[in-house]
Amino acid sequence: METDSVNTMPQRESTYSYWAGKLRPYISNTPLWPVAREIKDSMTLRTWERNGRPAPPPSGYKRQVIRQYAKKYGVSTMIETGTLYGEMDIAMKDVFSSIFTIELSPEFHAAAVRRMAPYPHIKCLQGDSAVVFPSVLAQMKSPCLLWLDAHYSAGNTAKAEIDTPISAELDYVFNHPIRNHVVLIDDAHCFDGTHDYPQLKDLEESVLRVRPDLSFTVEHNIIRIVPRTDSAN
Ligand SMILES: C[S@@+](CC[C@H](N)C(=O)[O-])C[C@H]1O[C@@H](n2cnc3c(N)ncnc32)[C@H](O)[C@@H]1O
Repeated sequence: METDSVNTMPQRESTYSYWAGKLRPYISNTPLWPVAREIKDSMTLRTWERNGRPAPPPSGYKRQVIRQYAKKYGVSTMIETGTLYGEMDIAMKDVFSSIFTIELSPEFHAAAVRRMAPYPHIKCLQGDSAVVFPSVLAQMKSPCLLWLDAHYSAGNTAKAEIDTPISAELDYVFNHPIRNHVVLIDDAHCFDGTHDYPQLKDLEESVLRVRPDLSFTVEHNIIRIVPRTDSAN
């Protein structure tokens, strides 16, 4: 879920965030929203950095990481699992020439289809990512940035038979003929062996056992699995 608030916001930023939040329902489907969100992102990022980068990082940090990795690895396709409001897709619409986003909830999916209508290079798919993600990845002919973020997240978010499809998704990624996908997984803190998540250590061991050529690191709550020779860390 969005984690835009940083505890100790300066007055100017908290006033801006207040009004951006109030106006969001009215402007989120207009060209004004990406501009308003860019300003909000840079303010929350500055505050987060000034405060010593406490956990959890703001959403603007996640967007910054995806932009950095896309540039560093020269990938032009992003596959996101877990669309929610489509905020990441809108933020990345000018970074990638092709975006696929997968959402289990029919309601979130329908809203995303409406929101992405002006951007034909963003494809919204509905279903359980454990099933839909392999069928999308199977069509890919070049390395992609994979933002793996589908999971039950409380509230009205969807839940499949299990809380997270991450193990099925990763099995498929590491057996895919393209060996250099850039894998970013949000919410590393969830990987504690409960609610269908593997333990972080077990995940690292199992990834490196099948793919010793990869680098596995965790920074600011994002798991990063990338080709070792090109590690971004
Ligand atoms: C943390 S939110 C995604 C946030 C979004 N990626 C972003 O960066 O703004 C997780 C989303 O995953 C969806 N979800 C849960 N289980 C899923 C599954 N098995 N397949 C696809 N989507 C799923 C939830 O309905 C929720 O919208």
